[in-house]
Amino acid sequence: MLSSVIRVQLLPLLLVTFAILESAVSVKHENFKTCDQSGFCKRNRAFADHVTASGSSWASPYTVLPNTVKIKNGFVTGTILKSLGDGQPSIHLPLSIHFQEPGVARITIDEAQRQKGDIELRHGSPARKERYTEVDKWVLVGQSESDPGMKGEFSQKETIVSYGPGNGYKAIIRHSPFSVDFVRDDQVQIKFNGNGMMNLEHWRPKVEKEKKGSEEAKEGEEIKEEPKEVSTGEHGEDESTWWEESFGENTDSKPKGPESVAMDITFPAYEHVYGIPGHAGPLALKETRLYNSDVFEYEMDSPMTLYGAIPLMYAHRKQSSVGVFWMNAAETWIDIEKQKQSSNPLSLGIGAKTDTKTHWISENGLIDIFVFLGPEPKDIIQQYSARTGNTQLPQEFSIGYHQCRWNYVTDEDVKDVDNKMTRHHIPYDVIWLDIEYTDGKKYFTWDEHTFPDPLGMQKQLDASQRKLVAIIDPHIKNEANYPVVEALKSQDLGIHNKDNNLYEGWCWPGSSYWIDCFNPAARKWWDSLFTYQSFKGTASNLFLWNDMNEPSVFNGPETTMPKDNLHHGNWEHRDIHNLNGLTFHNATYEAMLKRDHPAKRPFVLTRSYYSGSQRVGAMWTGDNQASWSHLQASIPMILSMNIAGFPFAGADVGGFFGNPSKELLTRWYQAGAFYPFFRGHAHIDTRRREPYLIGDPYTQIITQALRLRYQLLPAWYTAFHTASTSGYPIVRPHYYVHPSDEAGFGLDDQFYLADTGLLIKPVVTEGATTVDIYLPPSSTYYDYFTFKPYTGGGTVTIPAPLDTIPLLMQAGHIIPRKDRPRRSSGLMRWDPYTLLITLDEHGNAEGELYIDDGESFDYRDGAFIHRRFTFSAGRELRSSNFASGIDVQGSGKKAKEYAKRMSGVGVEKVIIVNAPRTWEGRGTVVVQEEGGRRRGGQRCSFSAGRRGEARIGRW
Ligand code: GLC
Repeated sequence: MLSSVIRVQLLPLLLVTFAILESAVSVKHENFKTCDQSGFCKRNRAFADHVTASGSSWASPYTVLPNTVKIKNGFVTGTILKSLGDGQPSIHLPLSIHFQEPGVARITIDEAQRQKGDIELRHGSPARKERYTEVDKWVLVGQSESDPGMKGEFSQKETIVSYGPGNGYKAIIRHSPFSVDFVRDDQVQIKFNGNGMMNLEHWRPKVEKEKKGSEEAKEGEEIKEEPKEVSTGEHGEDESTWWEESFGENTDSKPKGPESVAMDITFPAYEHVYGIPGHAGPLALKETRLYNSDVFEYEMDSPMTLYGAIPLMYAHRKQSSVGVFWMNAAETWIDIEKQKQSSNPLSLGIGAKTDTKTHWISENGLIDIFVFLGPEPKDIIQQYSARTGNTQLPQEFSIGYHQCRWNYVTDEDVKDVDNKMTRHHIPYDVIWLDIEYTDGKKYFTWDEHTFPDPLGMQKQLDASQRKLVAIIDPHIKNEANYPVVEALKSQDLGIHNKDNNLYEGWCWPGSSYWIDCFNPAARKWWDSLFTYQSFKGTASNLFLWNDMNEPSVFNGPETTMPKDNLHHGNWEHRDIHNLNGLTFHNATYEAMLKRDHPAKRPFVLTRSYYSGSQRVGAMWTGDNQASWSHLQASIPMILSMNIAGFPFAGADVGGFFGNPSKELLTRWYQAGAFYPFFRGHAHIDTRRREPYLIGDPYTQIITQALRLRYQLLPAWYTAFHTASTSGYPIVRPHYYVHPSDEAGFGLDDQFYLADTGLLIKPVVTEGATTVDIYLPPSSTYYDYFTFKPYTGGGTVTIPAPLDTIPLLMQAGHIIPRKDRPRRSSGLMRWDPYTLLITLDEHGNAEGELYIDDGESFDYRDGAFIHRRFTFSAGRELRSSNFASGIDVQGSGKKAKEYAKRMSGVGVEKVIIVNAPRTWEGRGTVVVQEEGGRRRGGQRCSFSAGRRGEARIGRW
């Protein structure tokens, strides 16, 4: 008999009434530039080498003019002089440092002469003369209030600003040479230009060089081809890439000459740096290039650029995180070097700390950097997201499973897959159409032979509350009698070439034009293409996929656009390249937002992204391969997106190129069940691989993985809600969750699901039957399936045969889930909840659950339920309002009606792991609803097993 009775207290509105081989394909390196082939990168690295070689004899030529310094309303402004020596006039660079709440600084450096437009462009170019100043217009949406407590002290030598919480931070701005040290806890956390590598290539006119006699070919000598124009040298600098640059077939006319910006940023005593996606490699960073490109068959562990860029970097050490956000949309290279601090020679280096030195180089634009001083990783992501925007709360269906391939070939094919998934009891929410559904790759059309009845297809899907996603790319086919291209041409809505005519290039449809989403008129036109009248054959369960938006141009340099192409406002493509994908993704989001009345939350997947893209949808990591190494890499890639503020991220499950073995595919589904965005996708040349085709036991095991995803949807949706209000990652690396546990800083193959305490280590090696999981000290974990306990403080080996996903639960958590298998998430809406509780050593646990209608914006009017669950002292489970300050349940004009609608949805089961021994056997539970009808309490049955788990039956 049980001696103790659990009291479950319910508050009003509580919803409880109580074989494949490693693929041989590889990237064509010759299609992408190395730093040596990218003039500005080569110049800046050479400059850095010169600085390093000069040692202490080097003095950075940048100095702040003391009499220009002003300190006012949270800003320090002034002028930096770049001295050119040789009696030449110095270059004026306007400086602004904005100290913002809560302890964030933004440093901006421009160039006065270009700012005034007082320069001459070559080749009669119509391009804008200024450095690009509009990145913030696309990227920043939120917080930028000045820190009211900020104080500055000026002296001839330096300006010292105190700011941040309790005015405990300092920025020491040295005037000559210019450098800034950011100080927290009396330690320098970040140094700008501490190594003197700052560089801003000012405007200068091109000086034509006379041919010298000695350069003329001597008789009999082979005549070398001379560049058309050769410039004179200045201070021995390499000018060969100042005025023109060729790569492959393409010559960049560079009408503005050299204009790069660079800064060295040092993180003293920080050994670990993370962030700056996208790249394919470990979470801990190596050098990286950010230049959004369609990198065909990308390879692992490479500094090569990928489809998107988020220039947010974290530096981390025990108990301290700091970060910088380099807000520049041009091609950018980041060199990262770890250097042992010079220590006492007698200590033989023992105890010496490691600094991380970084060198940021962009082709043009401003120096515009945000500085975050932590001290925890979550502070940085929260402050970054408060500026660039949180990920939007997605429709609930979109965090279910997505079934995609290039291509489902007919509407009958789609319906057949849908039927077979149902017949095999495999849950899924969305089936996808790749480019072949169109009439000859003309977007907004259907191939009428293969998709004669698109509405019938969508109707069948809707019967199971399933959805359709169709692809729409930014290249518009150049073909007569295609109204979309005719409108683009006649209204001049496309991107222009350097001569200011419509730019024509090559992509899937052949000859194409590209919509210029920097143009407000083009965005307005884009809106009109998505209406039900315009995009015929589409129903309200159709959503969108934007691909190739880097933009991918098959015959362009580095598979993208020439940098001297022109966008709306005459900005050069080089100015905005890394933003291009974001603007297209935004435009589609806005168009979808206007499609329904009242509006529903759009779902738009993007391949290319920049800081801010998280506000409007999901991303995936592009064209990976069906290989174990790509499965492995998907984990750090997705974690990296998550700590960089874009958590709705996934990788093609199964691998895009190639045919996965049954084992690889199965393991990939098990991993994918823990990607925030979970989609199976495959190249057109691959064999069909819908889960029911694989055969048992694989089909069964994959189905179990999918059901696990659906079982945990309440926890996932709650995690998305947290991300949408705070910016916090949905999947979290070890260092983020345990910022003081040094032993785990290098871990990027195991991760946590938000605040649930669920720790996942997907199997990513062939033939594995066990995995080793590292557990932090002083913690207990339980196997999710068997409840077997594991003690923290080292590595534990847990069984992982093919049918098992290594999944642990940290003690002290309450995980909400739904246990009834259904065809889709929509059909689970009214199902009851199960609470899975793991008690810690004091008998305590906590967790949360967020619910709304999963599709509309009514949650903004209070139509949601947000509960905090606490279990205390091994006796009492309590459910109360989650009062985060952001959303308080019960307020808002739609709150009551929603609560009423949900009144029939309850908790049907509570499972308690590590229940007190004294509970063994059977007993009773008292369920109470405070203020409700069952005030007196209701008794229900209870049973506790020997493994320390207790199950409470239906209430
Ligand atoms: C790109 C996408 C891929 C898609 C294909 C055809 O390669 O990355 O996912 O299937 O284009 O649209």
